[in-house]
Amino acid sequence: MTRKPIIVGNWKMNNDLHETRALLSDIHDRLASKSAQVDVGVAPPATFLAVAGEILADDLILLAAQNVHYADSGAFTGEVSPRMLKSLGVDLVIVGHSERRHYFAETDELVNRKVKAALSVGLVAIVCVGETLEEREAGQTLEKVSTQVRGAFDGLSAQQASTIVLAYEPVWAIGTGRTATPEQAQEVHRALRDLLTELYDAPTADAIRIQYGGSVKPHNAESLLSQPDIDGALVGGASLKGDAFEAIVNAALSNA
Ligand code: 13P
Repeated sequence: MTRKPIIVGNWKMNNDLHETRALLSDIHDRLASKSAQVDVGVAPPATFLAVAGEILADDLILLAAQNVHYADSGAFTGEVSPRMLKSLGVDLVIVGHSERRHYFAETDELVNRKVKAALSVGLVAIVCVGETLEEREAGQTLEKVSTQVRGAFDGLSAQQASTIVLAYEPVWAIGTGRTATPEQAQEVHRALRDLLTELYDAPTADAIRIQYGGSVKPHNAESLLSQPDIDGALVGGASLKGDAFEAIVNAALSNA
């Protein structure tokens, strides 16, 4: 099965309004014409999603949120609901990023509630999993990511699961410049697809796109994206520069 590659820039907590507008326009100019072959998305901070929804209104570049609450509305000071995101033209939402798990104590159970809430309003969830360096060195990588996937997908039908984008982001590769080798990443991606086959069935597992994230840069994107089970990238630092992000999208195009 051929899966359409998906490259998403996770901007994290960077840039002010002025810089955000400039980067959105730059990325739209560079990449909108490639959207037929590659899904390209950006995830600005929540405070800039409204302006991003206006700049990206033609929907050629997909708009992603970095986080979401599980409730539709209510007394949750500082939080943003799925329905609010949807009303801004948001297409995707990143759920369970390792920084949220680490700094904000997000559990697999909370990730699962957020995924279900996102799906209920028609948002595509990008579900992040990944092991720490300690876990990798202890030989616990596959056990860790399997537990995270089982937790995130708990109670989802095959149809719901097939819409999810899974992102394998080894924690030790995020923001460190130390990327997983293509072989290390492929091994985990293959294991994740096998797990999805076990949880659902082969057609569902085949339909789910699995991104790699963790120090993806122009110089290593092509070798990662050429692996059979790597269907895209979730890019941090390199997505803050239009030319570097474009080069990563081009690497996906050459494999599409
Ligand atoms: P870097 O590409 O900066 O390592 O960040 C990866 C990431 O966390 C994307 O979500």
